[in-house]
Amino acid sequence: MSHLSHIEGFVIRDGKLFFSGCDTVALARDFGTPLWVLSEDLVREKCKKYCDSFRSHTSKFSVAYAGKAFLTTGFCGLLKSEEMGLDVCSAGELHTAKAAGFNMDRVLFHGNNKTRMEISLALRFGVGRFVVDNLHELSLVNQLAKEANLVQPIFFRVTPGITTHTHHYVQTGHLDTKFGFGIDNGQAEEAIRVSAGLQNVKLVGLHCHIGSQLFDLSSFKAAIHIVLEFMAKLREFFPKQGLELDLGGGLGVRYTSEDYPPPIEEYVDTLYMTTQSKTKELGMEMPFLWVEPGRSIVAPAGITLYTVGAIKEIPGIRTFLSVDGSMADHPRTALYGSIYCAVLANKVSEASPDDILAVFCTGAYHYSMSSNYNRLPRPAVVGLSKGKPRLLVRPETFEDLLRHDENPSLERGLETANRGNF
Ligand code: LLP
Repeated sequence: MSHLSHIEGFVIRDGKLFFSGCDTVALARDFGTPLWVLSEDLVREKCKKYCDSFRSHTSKFSVAYAGKAFLTTGFCGLLKSEEMGLDVCSAGELHTAKAAGFNMDRVLFHGNNKTRMEISLALRFGVGRFVVDNLHELSLVNQLAKEANLVQPIFFRVTPGITTHTHHYVQTGHLDTKFGFGIDNGQAEEAIRVSAGLQNVKLVGLHCHIGSQLFDLSSFKAAIHIVLEFMAKLREFFPKQGLELDLGGGLGVRYTSEDYPPPIEEYVDTLYMTTQSKTKELGMEMPFLWVEPGRSIVAPAGITLYTVGAIKEIPGIRTFLSVDGSMADHPRTALYGSIYCAVLANKVSEASPDDILAVFCTGAYHYSMSSNYNRLPRPAVVGLSKGKPRLLVRPETFEDLLRHDENPSLERGLETANRGNF
């Protein structure tokens, strides 16, 4: 199993895969496949690593988990108990947090095209910070906050103009991006000046997110330097006390043994120390720091279990091994060409039909990016905590799939089916 030396949280016992203390073959039997499995223990470990690393430097920080990586109401409960913040970017994510009783003060609201409905909802829920992306949004937030008779604290999302070494689909810190205000082209400065004239928004800091699945800490350092120099230049527009800086997410994970992201501790230390020395140099107050990690918290905590079906050998070319999943539950390979490591969960020898295949590192951007392509119902998500499984999301049924179809004759058909006439 040397090809799995980079994978966390598993052991092979009597040829069987145990993940987070649970027998994965029993999970596949009890819950069915495909099955998304999430180690809540591993998630907690990652949350603690982030928070403890910050705490060793300061108490002025918030680790706002990026909900887009994976979010359910049950998962919000876990985040709450780890004293995490939360980054949301849609009304759906907002509702999820609200329904779970998440403290809205700890919520950051993102998005490059927030609708009037979403802005009103976020104001009504009392989200802590809006991360404002464009001037249209700025005036909408100000107007709706005025109608609600409140002053909304905001960050501006700025683009420091950095090109990172990651898949070009997830590069977001360079100038040619739909996200945020450019620093180089003067748009960020213009937004700051406009906001100073508005009564119902209060600029408390800046945000930048330079990309995802990043391994190189020097890109983060460069972004911090650029954003802080820019802030120092316009310091009269920011609060003298209680300044905030949000450095986004982006720390990478080990999908394969060739991926070498720095450890969470080193990443946090670098962000903190770079900010500290740069602010000192610029004669600024050390800001309250936010980060928004998604992938590095949930990706390694997830595995997907499949049942092996048809095995097709194309002589001289390759052997195709089919499983009962697809790009509907595993979208990242089709979208980004991502490579994953997998193992047979029920034995160490070659695959045969009905074996269970476990694919590692599928906790981030799988459930959240899944679809019903091919009219496939989404699998269940099972959380593992202290060796025990609990259902986080029940599996979709065929009825769920048909639920939104408008078709009177079909409805009659279903009624018949429900009376048990088949
Ligand atoms: N903050 C902002 C503003 C973001 O846009 C993102 C991710 C994050 C935080 C969290 O970044 P992370 O720590 O997870 O790298 N669908 C792609 C990933 C897109 C990431 C988008 N933004 C994938 O499957 O790889």
